[in-house]
Amino acid sequence: MARTALVTGGTRGIGRAICEALKAEGYTVAANYAGNVEVATQFTDETGIPSYKWSVADYEACKDGIGEVEAAHGPVEILVNNAGITRDAPFHKMTQIQWREVVETNLSGLFNMTHPLWPAMRDRGFGRVINISSINGLKGQFGQANYSAAKAGDLGFTRSLAMEGARKGITVNAICPGYIATDMVMAVPEEIRNQIIAGIPVGRLGETMDVARCVTFLASDQASFITGATLSVNGGQYMSG
Ligand code: CAA
Repeated sequence: MARTALVTGGTRGIGRAICEALKAEGYTVAANYAGNVEVATQFTDETGIPSYKWSVADYEACKDGIGEVEAAHGPVEILVNNAGITRDAPFHKMTQIQWREVVETNLSGLFNMTHPLWPAMRDRGFGRVINISSINGLKGQFGQANYSAAKAGDLGFTRSLAMEGARKGITVNAICPGYIATDMVMAVPEEIRNQIIAGIPVGRLGETMDVARCVTFLASDQASFITGATLSVNGGQYMSG
């Protein structure tokens, strides 16, 4: 029987590409989203992939939402923690709300989604947790003290959980996309965006499928010896060891 994959923030941008790529590989796929019902409805109409609305920042909502997905599609064996938001501001202008919103979604969201699924993954002796971090969690970014801190936290979470899952057949990996042509990146003022693109050796923004292809590989049985890894997909913008 096909394995079930759950992708947070799965109805738009990188998440949508991940859902489509996993479906093309034969997985049963469910997408979570937090806000935009119209986009989610269109996504489900176009792809045939069901979408479920809850906030990954809310632990109880995650437990309930996962329960609903599993009742309909069987146990979730592949979790892609992709949901993320930005609240960019230079630190001297950043509010506590901007800090909290980003940390609660982009970092605590990983706890909230992974924690309810973890015991069953351990019991089954199989699991794939794939966390979408960011180039800016590796290098930092002007205007993103909140986002960079949360995304760097995602990497620590990934490595610790990889250690705990290893003997239980669970791999936990992170992908660090660079600047990908999504609504989030297109919201960066054009002048700044052009400066960023000028710093990408490949000379362009990435495509959502560039990231999605990495997810399908990490989800596969062929990737069973890869755990605790951080895979950069950034056109050469930041090369870390
Ligand atoms: N390095 C140094 N100085 C910088 C700078 C940088 N990268 N960017 C801006 N500045 C300076 C400006 O030159 C200006 O200086 P002066 O005050 O001396 O003129 C000052 O900072 C601008 O300050 P403002 O008060 O005008 O800043 P602002 O309130 O308008 O907002 C900002 C600034 C919103 C952070 C804006 O710079 C911005 O949007 N930056 C891009 C942030 C970014 O890359 N976000 C990524 C979003 S996509 C994403 O997150 C996905 C992913 O994972 C990659």
